Amino acid sequence: MRKLLFILTALLPLLALKAEDGSRLWLRLDTLRTAQVTGHEGKAAEVLKLHYDGKQVTLTLDPTQPATDGYTIRGDKEAATITAHSEAGLLYGAFALLRGETGTSAPCFDLRLLNHWDNLDGSVERGYAGESIFWNDRLETDPSLIEAYAMANASIGINGTVLNNVNASPKMLTAPYINKVREIADLLRPWGIRVFISVNFGSPKALGEVETADPLNRQVRRWWKRRVTDIYKVIPDFGGFLVKANSEGQPGPFDYGRTHADGANMLADALKPHGGIVMWRSFVYGAKHKGEDRVKQAVSEFKPCDGEFRDNVILQSKNGPLDFQPREPYAPIFDQMEQTHQMAELQITQEYLGHSQQLVFLAPMWEEFFSFVSPKKLKGIAGVANIGLDTNWCGHHFAQANWYAFGRLAWDPTLTSRQIADEWLRQTFGSEAPEVKSEERRSDERRFRKENGSQQIRLKRTPYATVYASMLDMMLRSREACVDYMMPLGLHHIFKFDHHYGPEPDGFKANYPLEWCPVYYHQADNRGVGFDRSSRGTGATRQYPEPYRTQYDAPETCPEEYLLWFHHLPWDYKMKSGRTLIQEMEWHYQRGVNEVIDFIATWQQAKPYIDAQRWQEVNTKLTTQLVDAREWQQVCTRYFGSFAQPK
Ligand code: GCU
Repeated sequence: MRKLLFILTALLPLLALKAEDGSRLWLRLDTLRTAQVTGHEGKAAEVLKLHYDGKQVTLTLDPTQPATDGYTIRGDKEAATITAHSEAGLLYGAFALLRGETGTSAPCFDLRLLNHWDNLDGSVERGYAGESIFWNDRLETDPSLIEAYAMANASIGINGTVLNNVNASPKMLTAPYINKVREIADLLRPWGIRVFISVNFGSPKALGEVETADPLNRQVRRWWKRRVTDIYKVIPDFGGFLVKANSEGQPGPFDYGRTHADGANMLADALKPHGGIVMWRSFVYGAKHKGEDRVKQAVSEFKPCDGEFRDNVILQSKNGPLDFQPREPYAPIFDQMEQTHQMAELQITQEYLGHSQQLVFLAPMWEEFFSFVSPKKLKGIAGVANIGLDTNWCGHHFAQANWYAFGRLAWDPTLTSRQIADEWLRQTFGSEAPEVKSEERRSDERRFRKENGSQQIRLKRTPYATVYASMLDMMLRSREACVDYMMPLGLHHIFKFDHHYGPEPDGFKANYPLEWCPVYYHQADNRGVGFDRSSRGTGATRQYPEPYRTQYDAPETCPEEYLLWFHHLPWDYKMKSGRTLIQEMEWHYQRGVNEVIDFIATWQQAKPYIDAQRWQEVNTKLTTQLVDAREWQQVCTRYFGSFAQPK
């Protein structure tokens, strides 16, 4: 404990000295040491002793409190108390107190996990913020970095993390890597975070230890049991496995004529005696139902298994039925599996929303998801992390807001995007005009007046309250802006191949699966555009319950933001605005670009108030965002326009 305290105290002033390079995330906590903290010792006490600006806090562990991770905060700056059922609850309470909260709070989901798509060689699949913080060829980890990561996660209530990519290397289950997992687990544990790993279903065979990976084979079952037992010997609170099976070329139970339930249950049986779980992903296409509309395949494949999974198996599904597009309707699998535990997978890393180049605040997208899928249906929530070795962790300073938002929504999915953005902005950039900056401005003005020989000139400055409101607004509008300049009206997957940045509406490669080709998704021709998934088309609308089934099935009642997702319509189709479909498309592309122009103006106004480095870095990215938004607009309006024009 003393050693950890030492690391923590040594670490924080060090981070503070680095000033504003974004490395402190939203945790720009001053080292104050003003509070007397009594009662239970632990991380909560350590954090408050260092950073709380009140006088007195008492921490009480009370196992009779109902929610394991919940807390109650009472009192004021003079004297506050935090009561919680568990050590983790006290810690969450401590961070809530630092944010200025009081009252009782408990998390909505028991499982609040990050999923790292980190490869063992240090690369990160769909990572835009540098190499992995966990893995590298030298098998070295930086404990202070892992602790800073843990503290950031604890501050927003995240309580578990999957340390490696779902496209998992079989090597993950070998001794050197499990040892590393143990080391990381030891660092995360005091912060209430359990570790999980992704496993390759074919591991027993791939490692050359059994001739098959058939889940019903006795040797295979024994092999997994032994591996699991070995893991628990060194990591007694190990969380369990995340599995991508029979998806995008990964091995799985189908390779042996078995079902998803056979595969998941075999692992679940090995984990069960130790309290571990299996998170089995439903992101599948092209294996069993090849040729079927891709967005239907998860339900086709998993529905027959409903009720067959063990109770420590959780089906993990992406928010939409396709693949983390800027906008998708919710995935109907959440309504279809009535006897299976489920959890939602959201993507924090912006694979399809401008990587770490573009300012896109994702909370509105997730808020939209929860307006369709009740959190009550879910056991947990996972977010594909956007974290890497970059100094500011996430590549873009505003991408930190997505990590933050994910954690806060995992705690309380009823929080609005506005509340979350406000919390994050306040902590990350401050809710009041920073003093230093106004000093700087005054000296700027003095210099300016002197140089220009005038007493009259004052540098024009928008009041910080106005700037703050504009920054908040910019965050809240940014996701819709991205939909507008990339893929409005339900268009989807018209990205450049492989890296998914930039437009390629004419994309087609004969040697690629059709499900990767943009032309398959927009189906544009001289008659119209859009994918007919209505009951006259692929019938994907039938996977939805009422009222959505009927609503989505007819173009007249289908919400316009999903129109081309569910319907193929003529270019002169009349939209609610009175414009034709092609005009409406053009209107959206233009609005998207205009929004980015407006974000740039907001950021210019913010300049006097933001530290130089972060301001400059965000400004450079916004400039790129505008260039790229314009590219989307030009390429797409030209391409679609070429069909829409009478020939
Ligand atoms: C997307 C992504 C892949 C990822 C896959 C998954 O297709 O592009 O990199 O592996 O999703 O979620 O499994």
